[in-house]
Amino acid sequence: MNQEEKKNKILVIDFGSQFTKLIARRIRDYKVFSEILTPRDLKKKNIFKNVKGIILSGGPSTVTKNKFPDIPNEIFKLDIPILGICYGLQLIAKHFNGKVKSNIKKREFGRAVLSKSKDSLLTKGFFYNKKSNVWMSHQDSVYKIPKEFTKVASTSGSEMTIIENKKKNIYGIQFHPEVTHTENGNIIFKNFIFKICKAKKQWKLEFEKSRIIKEIKNTTEKNKVICALSGGVDSSVVALLIHKAIGKNLKCIMVDTGLLRKDEFKSTYKIFKNKYKLNVKIVHASKIYFKKLKNVVDPEKKRKIIGNLFIKIFEKEAKKFKNVKFLAQGTLYPDIIESRSTTGSKSSKIKSHHNVGGLPKKMNLKLIEPLKELFKDEVRVLGESVGLIKNISNKHPFPGPGLAIRILGNITHEKVKILKEADHIFTEQLIKNNLYKKIWQAYAALLPVKTVGVMGDSRTYEYICLLRAVTSEDGMSADYYSFPKKFLDEISNKIVNGVKGINRVVYDITSKPPSTIELE
Ligand code: XMP
Repeated sequence: MNQEEKKNKILVIDFGSQFTKLIARRIRDYKVFSEILTPRDLKKKNIFKNVKGIILSGGPSTVTKNKFPDIPNEIFKLDIPILGICYGLQLIAKHFNGKVKSNIKKREFGRAVLSKSKDSLLTKGFFYNKKSNVWMSHQDSVYKIPKEFTKVASTSGSEMTIIENKKKNIYGIQFHPEVTHTENGNIIFKNFIFKICKAKKQWKLEFEKSRIIKEIKNTTEKNKVICALSGGVDSSVVALLIHKAIGKNLKCIMVDTGLLRKDEFKSTYKIFKNKYKLNVKIVHASKIYFKKLKNVVDPEKKRKIIGNLFIKIFEKEAKKFKNVKFLAQGTLYPDIIESRSTTGSKSSKIKSHHNVGGLPKKMNLKLIEPLKELFKDEVRVLGESVGLIKNISNKHPFPGPGLAIRILGNITHEKVKILKEADHIFTEQLIKNNLYKKIWQAYAALLPVKTVGVMGDSRTYEYICLLRAVTSEDGMSADYYSFPKKFLDEISNKIVNGVKGINRVVYDITSKPPSTIELE
């Protein structure tokens, strides 16, 4: 997509809500380009060029304190429609002399019934019999309507649940239309984007394909690009796109860390070498990975060791080719968004993802990240459009540090061998039972404890295998998958009988939050 085509975009200003990315996703689903910015980005020049609408996200802050993440008042004078969601609504109220209070005792979390007070363009087709079920998550609420605004709908817990300033095209809602628990939340977005912002359906993934290929050509010129190929969806799509753009100037390097899934390294090599005819070089590095990881227990240390080693190997290999200036990586949009701070303060780092956080500060290669504006399922579609086989485009996500963060505690050859077998059996059974595609991510992990069992009249003392399977949208939040008992019985049997070293299988039934998808 060129700059001209991006004309038609909606900005989502991120105040730190876990749902911000969902908002951006929903908008792209309607074929309108969306971009997530932080409040600080609004100070940049030309930021509002070609913007058809602005959405202010929710967030954990409160406008009732002296200091809070804010937006410049000028934003309301641009004549661009604005929709504030949750914190966004409260921020609008603050700017227009409304009153907001913190209600520690009267918080509203979960479902609520919304009652309509008047018609609004934003809610056209949203109510049924003047009611609608919505999902709330707030402690602060607007109790005095801002100047020039009118009330559109209320719940029993919050009177100003939807407000509007029709003349200025500014809307505020307290609930979250982006989560599926809000019935017909998509109607709110469609009304805002098409009826109020008058945006056109101009964005297509096809544009991304030609834009990315053109951009790669322009950026790299006649120089060579090294691509880190792992066989996962992202690096595979990156490799095929770059190959389309610059052909032989792409050199793929596959590092055998010894920490990939069973047989994955070999089969990836074969496909890319023989089917796609890419220039692929193999580096056998598992020895050094195991050496550096010996007795390392801390998850963040594991990540850093693996990330740093990875870059070092690449730099060394790159030197063997002439004119290599670039290193390609499969960084995705959620990686970028998750790794930055929304408020300007030092963001509270939850976890470093090695695509972004773990890179050494000084790098001798320039980074190209062709997928950095895309969400995972967009990447899958894009991959297929450049010929990627479904076996790869449908693969579940796999973390950069690989099995190292699925073996809790220290890593040994024995544990890796055990885990590879268990994970392989789990994946095979998911495919056989037509469950693989229904699940966003599934894997086996090895817990760092042994328990007693009994097999064939003798006592065993072996590891616990933990199975994780979640449904999700881009991994931001996740629910554990409800397997039928029969499947759980079978999988437990197959793993305990088929993998020497495991005598107990447990299934993880926590969602994200409060847990994460990976264990480390
Ligand atoms: P969490 O565990 O944070 O994972 O809920 C969300 C998604 O990110 C993947 N993940 C990683 N990917 N490097 C990666 O490239 C990492 O260090 C990493 N840690 C987690 C995880 O598999 C899930 O898809």
